Amino acid sequence: MSQARNILVTSALPYTNGDIHLGHLLEHVLTDIWVRFQRLRGNRCIYVCADDTHGTATMLAAEQRGMSAEALIEQVRLEHVHDFKRFGISHDNYHSTHSEENRQHAESIYRRLEAGGYIFTRAVEQLYDPERELFLADRYVQGGCPNCGSEDQYGDNCDSCGATYDATDLKNPRSMISGAKPVLKSSEHYFFDLPQFTEMLKAWTTSGAVQPEVANKLAEWLNEGLKPWDISRDAPYFGFLIPGTQDKYFYVWMDAPIGYMASFQQYVDAHNDVTFDEFWNAGSSCELHHFIGKDIVNFHALFWPAVLQASGHRKPTRIHAHGFISVDGAKMSKSRGTFINASTYLEHLDPEYLRYYYATKIRPSIDDMDINLDDFVQRVNADLVGKVVNIASRCAGFITRLYDGELSPTIHDQALWDEFVNAADSIASLYESDEFGKAVREIMALADRANQYIADQAPWRLAKQDGTEAEVQQICSLGLNLFKVLVVYLAPILPATVRKACAFLNVEALTWEDAQRSLGVHRINAFEPLLTRIDPKDVAAMVEASRETEADGLEAALEQEGPELDDKQIGIEDFDKVDLRVARIVAAEHVDGADKLLRLTLDLGGEQRSVFAGIKAAYTPESLIGRHTVIVANLKPRKMKFGVSEGMVLAAGPGGEHIFLLSPDEGATPGMEVR
Ligand code: MSP
Ligand code: ZN
Repeated sequence: MSQARNILVTSALPYTNGDIHLGHLLEHVLTDIWVRFQRLRGNRCIYVCADDTHGTATMLAAEQRGMSAEALIEQVRLEHVHDFKRFGISHDNYHSTHSEENRQHAESIYRRLEAGGYIFTRAVEQLYDPERELFLADRYVQGGCPNCGSEDQYGDNCDSCGATYDATDLKNPRSMISGAKPVLKSSEHYFFDLPQFTEMLKAWTTSGAVQPEVANKLAEWLNEGLKPWDISRDAPYFGFLIPGTQDKYFYVWMDAPIGYMASFQQYVDAHNDVTFDEFWNAGSSCELHHFIGKDIVNFHALFWPAVLQASGHRKPTRIHAHGFISVDGAKMSKSRGTFINASTYLEHLDPEYLRYYYATKIRPSIDDMDINLDDFVQRVNADLVGKVVNIASRCAGFITRLYDGELSPTIHDQALWDEFVNAADSIASLYESDEFGKAVREIMALADRANQYIADQAPWRLAKQDGTEAEVQQICSLGLNLFKVLVVYLAPILPATVRKACAFLNVEALTWEDAQRSLGVHRINAFEPLLTRIDPKDVAAMVEASRETEADGLEAALEQEGPELDDKQIGIEDFDKVDLRVARIVAAEHVDGADKLLRLTLDLGGEQRSVFAGIKAAYTPESLIGRHTVIVANLKPRKMKFGVSEGMVLAAGPGGEHIFLLSPDEGATPGMEVR
């Protein structure tokens, strides 16, 4: 084998403000398969990641929960680490962008950019929330679309007509944070002079560092002309102060990729077999691979290489960009139950299933990928259980029962064995180039060959005849040796199953080279099922549970930055389905363990209901007792973490402290219909 490579690999840093879901998992499974493949080949491959923590959203979320931002992000980081670990993602380190390592690297890079003459300042006019005293990013402003007039559109584009515009063009804009009318305000911003790197980027993006389709996309931007990049945000902001300023922070996307360095730095500090510089200095002979989604290609293939170059660092070896996943032909949707979180998946299904299914879909392309849940069940059951595990289970019984676990060193069918062994290079090059789907197809074709061989030889028939002991042992031994080769080939994809298979085969951890060797004279252990079939009922239950999580009530709805807007019109007959009633709040209490919920007991005129409402930040329980409000009375009872909610009270506002319970005018009585 050629000399071992030194490879640093990253997956994009998940934002702190959300759970790990199927989309993140695609990326981490893709990265992890590639990483495990490299390690299996004997390369030194270090895989780091971190949470991306900075920005206004983190600050607001912490406020809403009454926690410090630091405590919030650490809690989320631990959840993310836990989710990834259970999916077998083999990060060597998982850090945070809000870390000393990141502060130091961000500051030092900034100083080098400044010294190199790549930083300048310029005044920028932006919408400002005079009540909360902060500048408003586009998604914190809503108003009428300047193009079609449609109400409640966000600050950058219109959901209704698709127009894009500046937040300052919105009609009657209002702050999503306080509801106040924003004013225009000017402040000084810091810019990175990206256009100076145009020629370098034209060369780099066409050097094979990105996939051809990505290079084409980038060429469009490069030919249109790059603009300087605004890397500062005004206080208040959760992030790092820009050196030499009192109230200017690094924009989250400035220090996020530096988070790759920070996580690696933390790894280096804990292990003394690598240095930071050997991987990051300009001219480094180590490799640097970033795995990312297609939505963040500009940050990784334009800004980041320019920042690296400008600060005297090496540029990435390769950017591996992937498409987005959809489920059953549509964008992941909370209402359909296809917005599936890692933790929900794990309550119902074995992570190996998803790792395998993703592998069958992965190509080096940024096309989106559809997860079809029926196909998922079918592929996993047919391939993994029906083909691969089947080889072992068909052969193991004979070896254990008739030969006390002893394999025969004789290769019963040399041509078949050679076919398996000789597939190694082609499968390896498919792994190397992110063609996991093709690799899986080759491996499954081999599994078909092995099963065909066993069916043709029919050891179960042979075993009933006299004088066939040696042959039955040879056939089943070859079957198990072929199985071992498949296990090596599948090892990057199925770490847990492979661990079990190694225990059964009585072999140590595998290397890629092990596919070239048969077990020879060897004793195996008793066979235990390595993987069971997926029961479609478990998939259905997972979808159901994902639906519930979202309905986990107002809690989840209020967590979003703004209401999800659906501008489809409904007819009066649809509205008639909603049974709105006046209700009197007879009791209100805190819910143990819930940050945002109050439990309300409502009187609907003779009938009592228990309802959870996400209004804790806005109301004390005492202030609610005796008040009248409006409830959706025919909402299906929803099971939430803290109990069953039998309806929903109506409230206005973006959430947190800014939530306003609706009340009928004086005179309305409990149970009255609202129309
Ligand atoms: N924090 C930034 C990345 C900073 S990297 C220096 C970010 N975070 S994210 O949580 O929104 O996304 C993390 C990664 O998950 C991105 O690469 C993104 O493309 C990927 N995905 C998020 N949703 C996805 C799908 N539905 N499908 C596939 N990947 C998707 O972006
Ligand atoms: Zn519009």
